[in-house]
Amino acid sequence: MLDPESAEAGAALEQSLLADFAAVFSLNIAFQRGLMTRLLRGPISGDDPDAAPILMEMLHRAKVVAPLRQGWQLRAEMVDLLATRAASLRAKVSFTALAAADLLAGGEQMIFAPEAFAQAARTFQFFCYHRARDTRAASLQDTAPWVEYVTALSEAEAPLLAPYLPLDGVTRLLEIGGNSGAFALALLERHPALQIAIMDLPAVCHLGQSYVASRPEAARLVFHAGDARVDPLPTVRGGPPEVILFKSMLHDWTEKAQRDMLARAADHLAPQGRLIICERAPLGAGDLPLGLGLAPHLVFATYYRKAEHYRLLLADLGFELLAPVEVEVDLTFQILIAERRG
Ligand SMILES: C[S@@+](CC[C@H](N)C(=O)[O-])C[C@H]1O[C@@H](n2cnc3c(N)ncnc32)[C@H](O)[C@@H]1O
Repeated sequence: MLDPESAEAGAALEQSLLADFAAVFSLNIAFQRGLMTRLLRGPISGDDPDAAPILMEMLHRAKVVAPLRQGWQLRAEMVDLLATRAASLRAKVSFTALAAADLLAGGEQMIFAPEAFAQAARTFQFFCYHRARDTRAASLQDTAPWVEYVTALSEAEAPLLAPYLPLDGVTRLLEIGGNSGAFALALLERHPALQIAIMDLPAVCHLGQSYVASRPEAARLVFHAGDARVDPLPTVRGGPPEVILFKSMLHDWTEKAQRDMLARAADHLAPQGRLIICERAPLGAGDLPLGLGLAPHLVFATYYRKAEHYRLLLADLGFELLAPVEVEVDLTFQILIAERRG
């Protein structure tokens, strides 16, 4: 594991690359052509067929590579960054390019006709949940890229958000839509007596199992493949969950689907249990990154709801929302904790 100072420097470099047009443009191409892997092995010649002058100039201007007399090499800080974050950077660069292209081509639609935008945007096709309903090789192949992207986001969000989840004394947590387990691992690391079950789609659970396999916390984590809208919700180590968590999950759904999923969770929860919703807040709360780094979040901006929206849904189920906690990540996250009334 990285020391906190190197991890912070890596996160800052990654963020500045993702905000910069030349960096996203050129890194995206370099990853696609396998050039980053080759540069990591050592310098490349200026005659290399992949070292196209425009591409290398952009990588140079973006401070990814430095010129040699006869070629190019990665800058030292890029070597350090790629040693720990190559998969994360690749996933984020590719998604930033996709989101920016959709927004620049269809920004008007995104704001004034969001449903049409969602139908047309490649960003939304990238999250092909319907391909995650089984674990055939082709389904896993289609599911892996977006799971990798969501995992990269969660790895960055979890250390900032996990301290605000009130889990002291909690031993059984169910995370619905917990993806590869990146967020759950951070919770398990902080709370040694905690056991977590993740319910997610079959291909996602399959990929998640390999993602967590090498981590000691995985002994306290179980994946349960299913559809949270219709399949029975799992117990956690044989008992009802004391907390059911929806992290960046509900915004994908219509209000009716959100209500139904929350109602099922409420029915399944231990009597004194809590529901926790953790979601990005609508734009307007907190600072905004205004560079290219905004694109991957702006593309979903019409889906982020106010705490009041969730308060009303939960009130209908007999739950009371405690004061929302706001945490600055890339955008502002709100952590909404709800308990049964009375
Ligand atoms: C936007 S991702 C968020 C993942 C994760 N909670 C995070 O914050 O990184 C939404 C997750 O919900 C899962 N999901 C979508 N539909 C689902 C369903 N019907 N039942 C269970 N999980 C579902 C997806 O597979 C995905 O992992």
